[in-house]
Amino acid sequence: MIKKFKGLTFLAILMVFALVVAGCSSGGGSSSVDVGIVLPTKDEPRWVQDEQRFKDALKDSKYSTEILFSQGSSAKEKENVEALLNKGIKVLIITPHDGAAAASAVEAAKKEGVTVIAYDRLITDTDAVDYYVTFDSLAVGAAQAQYLVDNAEGSDVPLYLYAGAASDNNAFLFFEGAWKVLQPKIADGTFKIVNSSEAEALKDSSDLSRDQLGKIIGQITTNWDANEAKNKAQTHLTAASDSQKGDVSILAPNDGTARSIADVFASDSAISNYFITGQDAEKASIQYIIDEKQSMTVFKDVRTLVKDAMGMAVEVLDGETPTTTGSYDNGAVEVKAKQTDVIVVDKDNVQSELIDSKYYEASEFTGLK
Ligand code: BGC
Repeated sequence: MIKKFKGLTFLAILMVFALVVAGCSSGGGSSSVDVGIVLPTKDEPRWVQDEQRFKDALKDSKYSTEILFSQGSSAKEKENVEALLNKGIKVLIITPHDGAAAASAVEAAKKEGVTVIAYDRLITDTDAVDYYVTFDSLAVGAAQAQYLVDNAEGSDVPLYLYAGAASDNNAFLFFEGAWKVLQPKIADGTFKIVNSSEAEALKDSSDLSRDQLGKIIGQITTNWDANEAKNKAQTHLTAASDSQKGDVSILAPNDGTARSIADVFASDSAISNYFITGQDAEKASIQYIIDEKQSMTVFKDVRTLVKDAMGMAVEVLDGETPTTTGSYDNGAVEVKAKQTDVIVVDKDNVQSELIDSKYYEASEFTGLK
């Protein structure tokens, strides 16, 4: 009887021990993760590039990290955040697929006491975002537009407008920045908008409200999808008259969409010349720029963004308060932010900005002078 009791006690102790060990491995034991990183999709080189830059920066970190991709799905993104919370993360660095839909994922993180850093894209309408690391997105749009203005000759230059996804706060900032520069040049007759009745209707207003921006973006969105961009460009050129062709200007929001829009314009024999913008300095677009198939890109040095995000995460883990340089209103709170400048790259400065700075190697391109 006594023996049996002892046996049971031993069993009970074993079970408790097993429970403690299990608790440790999902909470703070050997397989735990300090910093969780969630990126939106592997389908765009931009974010695969960020993953690589994170890996390069993390080589010597004393803190453990894990990077997960959400494949363009808010549901997958939420699952990713939950998986990382189960691994006991203390800091979450996240680029939302959809800025508003991501609120519930970061609220779950906040409930667990996790510090949330929005990376490149702001998460909107929630107080569960602690910090935001970003490029100057208004300046991205302004630089794209300025490039088109600087290269436009004569008057009534046909202007084709494209934008990012309306679920991405950045798409609003890029377009707002571009519109401020383009609008006076539309009003003075330098440009004539071809493909957006909503933009045409607002051509006398230089300051657009979020609703007005939303109306234009809704009409000319690419959804950050190269195929959607291509289909839209084809539809626009099919509908365009001869006077809307010839030498044209195209505002394309990023490199992925720029390359597919450029291909459509290049294959139309009634287009004699086009200037087209981009952003991200994706390798494929640098080759397009060297080959004169894309005019420019806005270089956002991801190494700096990664350094800022990880620097903040480490400060939090070390018990310090991260330094910030400004703030962004996300609709619910002012999110403390650290912002980085952007650089315009065209064929004249690929070498100095991207090769000399060791962002890329010359051998990755052909025809580089
Ligand atoms: C980023 C861009 C990117 C786009 C599409 C934006 O939020 O700032 O760099 O090209 O999303 O992924």
